[in-house]
Amino acid sequence: AQHPIILGIETSCDETAAAIVSADKRVLAHALWSQVDAHAVYGGVVPEIAARAHVDHLDHLIRQALSQADMQLCDVDAIAATAGPGLIGGVMVGVVTAKAMALGAGKPFIAVNHLEGHALSPRLTADIAFPYLLLLVSGGHCQLLVVKGVGRYHRLGSTIDDAAGEAFDKTAKLLGLGYPGGPAIELAARSGDPKRFSLPRPLTNKPGCNFSFSGLKTAVRRAAEALESEQGGVHDRDLCDLAASTQAAIGDCLINRTKHAIAQYLEDYAPKAPALVVAGGVAANETLRQRLTGLAQDHGLAFYAPPLWLCTDNGAMIAWAGMERFQIGQSDPLDSPARPRWPL
Ligand code: KG4
Ligand code: ZN
Repeated sequence: AQHPIILGIETSCDETAAAIVSADKRVLAHALWSQVDAHAVYGGVVPEIAARAHVDHLDHLIRQALSQADMQLCDVDAIAATAGPGLIGGVMVGVVTAKAMALGAGKPFIAVNHLEGHALSPRLTADIAFPYLLLLVSGGHCQLLVVKGVGRYHRLGSTIDDAAGEAFDKTAKLLGLGYPGGPAIELAARSGDPKRFSLPRPLTNKPGCNFSFSGLKTAVRRAAEALESEQGGVHDRDLCDLAASTQAAIGDCLINRTKHAIAQYLEDYAPKAPALVVAGGVAANETLRQRLTGLAQDHGLAFYAPPLWLCTDNGAMIAWAGMERFQIGQSDPLDSPARPRWPL
């Protein structure tokens, strides 16, 4: 493996993860503990439980990553950790651990913005030139950005209420499909009719690239209530149709806004190698990936989506963002803060 070699730590939400990547884009180790089961009973992430679980699991995940890579701490060139945005208790666990290791081993510490981790993650598995258009869709964020370079982002639009993943999660909870909602809705939608229920597509007739999903949950609740009173309950068939209709509505919003962003990106940047890139947990959605592939083709853009394991939170994307920063000579002091809010 080619140096530099970076260890990355992720603890900002409900995945505890550590990974090691090399300059030649090899993922030498990738260890992850999903806390999903601990939170599922509450129907969402409980910050206090998440923070404690990070404390319980991080040390052995780091040891596991080092042994997978057949390395010791002295073999890595820098230690990167998510320093925000996210649930502050969890972020602090990762940041403090990374700083302590950096201090002990005499290695640089790199504070990574979680969103930058998602934004640069597609470059770990494909050679994508700047500037590219990025649809960043996760549980906490929903944005369209032009990625001009490392640390250089131009935001074209973002959500004015819920994130796309949040819309999936809230609807799934409402329908009793469990947590996390995205994969549950996607699965149910496979045997459903996306046209059966007409759900709102907020902002899609408006100019610009902002998103809105807040009306969706209410509309789904009303549809479910109507079924209750008409037929005395919501049957499996109805659930699948509601899931498919929800996925279609969220997809339509994302596609419509991305179409606007493509026009702006092409006009403002006239890129030599125009590319549309999707990242974040919702990028794991197969239907969305297919629709974006078509959209990119229609406008003459190359399309990139990271492999599924790299879409949802993981350590490799943090290690890779650390790599991109390290390679341009950046690192952070040991008194740099953990930041619950940290816009790109
Ligand atoms: O990036 P991520 O792991 O965490 C955040 O940074 O938020 O994204 C998690 C979000 C959740 O809202 C989850 O429901 C959604 O990504 N998600 C999906 C799928 N897999 C995960 N949404 C739609 N379809 C999926 N297959
Ligand atoms: Zn994330």
